[in-house]
Amino acid sequence: MLHERRILVGVSGGIAAYKTVYLVRRLIEQGAEVRVMMTASALEFVGRQSFAAITGHHPATGLFGADSVSPHTELAQWAEAVVVAPATANTLAKAAHGISDDLVSTTLLATTAPMLFAPAMHTEMWENAATRRNVAALEADGHSMVGPASGTLAGGDTGPGRMAEPEEILQALDRLLAGRLSGIRVLVTAGGTREPIDPVRFVGNRSSGKMGFAIAQEAAACGADVTLVSSATRPAPTGVALIEVETAEEMAKSVAKLASEAEVVVMAAAVADFRPVDAAGTKLRRSEGIPELQLEPTPDILAGLAAMEQPPYLVGFAAETGSIDRAVEKARTKGVDVIVANDVTAEGSGFGSDTNQVALIDRRGTVDRWPLLSKREVARRLCDFLADQLQGRTGDG
Ligand code: C5P
Repeated sequence: MLHERRILVGVSGGIAAYKTVYLVRRLIEQGAEVRVMMTASALEFVGRQSFAAITGHHPATGLFGADSVSPHTELAQWAEAVVVAPATANTLAKAAHGISDDLVSTTLLATTAPMLFAPAMHTEMWENAATRRNVAALEADGHSMVGPASGTLAGGDTGPGRMAEPEEILQALDRLLAGRLSGIRVLVTAGGTREPIDPVRFVGNRSSGKMGFAIAQEAAACGADVTLVSSATRPAPTGVALIEVETAEEMAKSVAKLASEAEVVVMAAAVADFRPVDAAGTKLRRSEGIPELQLEPTPDILAGLAAMEQPPYLVGFAAETGSIDRAVEKARTKGVDVIVANDVTAEGSGFGSDTNQVALIDRRGTVDRWPLLSKREVARRLCDFLADQLQGRTGDG
């Protein structure tokens, strides 16, 4: 679960910071990409070089004078999850109240990534009513806590307040990342539909289904309950219910049956817009002369979903050849919540490729261009985006 995940580790000033060095090493061993940010007090406990040597990146320690002009927003946007370990009473208090007076607290305020706090402090501080209130506020905001455990504290005292062990923090992080779409029912479509001309020939397109399968896989990894309606023949990703279809009509029927149960529908399939009017019952022969294909429109599945009384959150895809201006228009007119647009003729994008360069366009036509990424990474970011959007929906009531 942590493989290739972008994890931001915030270190605040407690003796447990020495254990965070090992936590970071374990994260790296699991294949995570890690960046570290440290408060001024953390620097009194561990040196920046320890983290630099393990992660290959200098830890960020200040808002000013760094290479980046805006280190807090860069880190905040980069992170898929943030772990604050150790989280001192002061850092918890600042995070709970939105105080942003140094790099760590400002980044915590700037990120939309889920946060995990591993508190570490003396028992009296942990049990103090102010800390109780701050922890409750952070939990109410949707953030998670791991620990503290009971044990030996700084100065030889014992009691609750000792930072959770690195392995326990890793497990909590795993659960955090796995659960972002937990309990959400997601319906994904994938592949290019095939519209029969006769029993052996069809009108089709070049879609491989890779993008839709990656989305189904990542949504399931985030805890969603995923059904994938596919016209591409590929093995079902782990934990995903696969329904195989061939034509736009079959896909439309399956989607119509399942959509009212889904909170999110991702239409990644390249659905044929036209199909032959009458498929021949037997193979057309060359000797019979050149057949004349008459085409008729297929059902517009997205339009059907958008017309539902209570439509699920709708993600449409737009494969364009050239500019994405038409996709912006579609985002405005199709009744979907967001369109994922890509230029299938651009290098590294489109059918069959393992990478994709997409832009997310919302109903207002706001365009968010993503860099060239693996399809898996696009799928992950899309799942993060969906988790944020759904949280917004629930929050709005
Ligand atoms: O307008 P365009 O065909 O480019 O829109 C593409 C989006 O519409 C994709 O999300 C595709 O899955 C969906 N679509 C559909 N029904 C069709 C054709 C496309 O839902 N008949």
